[in-house]
Amino acid sequence: MRSQGFSVRMRGSARAIPRVGAVGFGECRSRIPDVASSDQKIEEHRMTVDFEPLMRHALSLAANGPSVGVNPQVGAVLVGDDGSVVAEGWHRGVGTPHAEVDALSKLPLNPVTGSPDARGLTAVVSLEPCNHTGHTGPCSVALVDSGVSRVVYAVDDPGEHSGGGSERLRAAGVAVVAGVLADEASEAMRVWLTATRERRPFVSVKWASSLDGRAAAADGSSKWITGAAARQRVHEQREQSDAIIVGTGTVIADDPSLTARGDAGEFMPHQPIPVVVGEREISAAARIFAHPQPPILTGSRDLPAILRVLFERGIRHVFVEGGPTLASAFIAAGLVDEYLVYLAPALLGGGRVAVGDIGVTTIGDAVRLTIDRVESLGEDLLVIARPVSSHTVSADPVHADSVHREK
Ligand SMILES: NC(=O)c1ccc[n+]([C@@H]2O[C@H](COP(=O)([O-])OP(=O)(O)OC[C@H]3O[C@@H](n4cnc5c(N)ncnc54)[C@H](OP(=O)(O)O)[C@@H]3O)[C@@H](O)[C@H]2O)c1
Repeated sequence: MRSQGFSVRMRGSARAIPRVGAVGFGECRSRIPDVASSDQKIEEHRMTVDFEPLMRHALSLAANGPSVGVNPQVGAVLVGDDGSVVAEGWHRGVGTPHAEVDALSKLPLNPVTGSPDARGLTAVVSLEPCNHTGHTGPCSVALVDSGVSRVVYAVDDPGEHSGGGSERLRAAGVAVVAGVLADEASEAMRVWLTATRERRPFVSVKWASSLDGRAAAADGSSKWITGAAARQRVHEQREQSDAIIVGTGTVIADDPSLTARGDAGEFMPHQPIPVVVGEREISAAARIFAHPQPPILTGSRDLPAILRVLFERGIRHVFVEGGPTLASAFIAAGLVDEYLVYLAPALLGGGRVAVGDIGVTTIGDAVRLTIDRVESLGEDLLVIARPVSSHTVSADPVHADSVHREK
């Protein structure tokens, strides 16, 4: 079947994101004047609240939201001067209130303004409040209208349209503290932050290989290299992604269904969109056409352009499931953010290696990885790794020369 409705088009230039002059918590303390008026004493008292446990709570609330889709997981708590939690909220996905607005909605209304009454409260939010109108209004405006005294957040919003909320808050006289638990929050929002900054989906590449690094036997058979527990883990990872990408070679050789299924073969609640990359036509009888989500046939090998189009379609996390040619092309292009390598205690020998030519000809050019963790799954291992430094690039021509270091 021919590729349909998929055109690769180049984006216009992106607006430069103004950097927000973030004030760290420590700096904020040191700004308290020595000679304190009563207002200043109240201010000083507020500054002694330890925001880190509150931010950790906001991050745990954020995890209640969906991990797929165009929006990040965000949590918010509204606290009094003594650090006690007055209200809390989190974002439940596109079209629903953002975390700050969800928390504000639990407050009584101010009889004069008709807005939720947050006078004297501090909002602790895991992401900088947004500054734009999408499905919902700007959170920075909702916070200003509520009369909140201070906003504490972890990570700047890198969004082209949504960033800059902290400037708006400051302009309205709201005290802003940025960067509280920034590393933890960045890690929790890594997928969304990477996708938003790079203007392409976060790319996880998965393969399963024998201990000697083979992805298939000499006759091309690869079902199954790993055991049931490892394969079930793959289904969970599929479900955590917006799309599954495979090459035409894998569709032709294996005819995979690319669905996310539970232990008993039942469909999981979220089904990622199947995407086929490559120029060859796919048989209309292929199992991917029975997938609950209509497959995207790209008819192209242009990975950066394909990722840009997927991003424009709202896809923020892709799960690349092979085969070796496609995985190698992603690595060679510097487009991998996460490696999910399943290793089976078996030897296959032969030439069907899990990764082929990635443009490394000498040891000094090795694509260096750092291992995040290793999971034991039955007899198999799952090694989760990420690029050590400069091996990921943007899919956006405007940002294509930039080199990004991951923590
Ligand atoms: N162990 C595992 O984890 C695993 C996973 C998947 C598959 N497999 C095994 O892998 C074998 C298939 O391997 P494969 O390498 O042929 O599969 P593949 O990587 O899925 O497909 C390769 C094809 O993708 C197309 N393609 C798309 N983008 C490309 C790019 N940027 N550069 C080059 N080619 C691109 C090309 O076909 P066009 O001519 O159509 O453009 C190429 O021939 C099967 O034996 C399968 O069982 C193993």
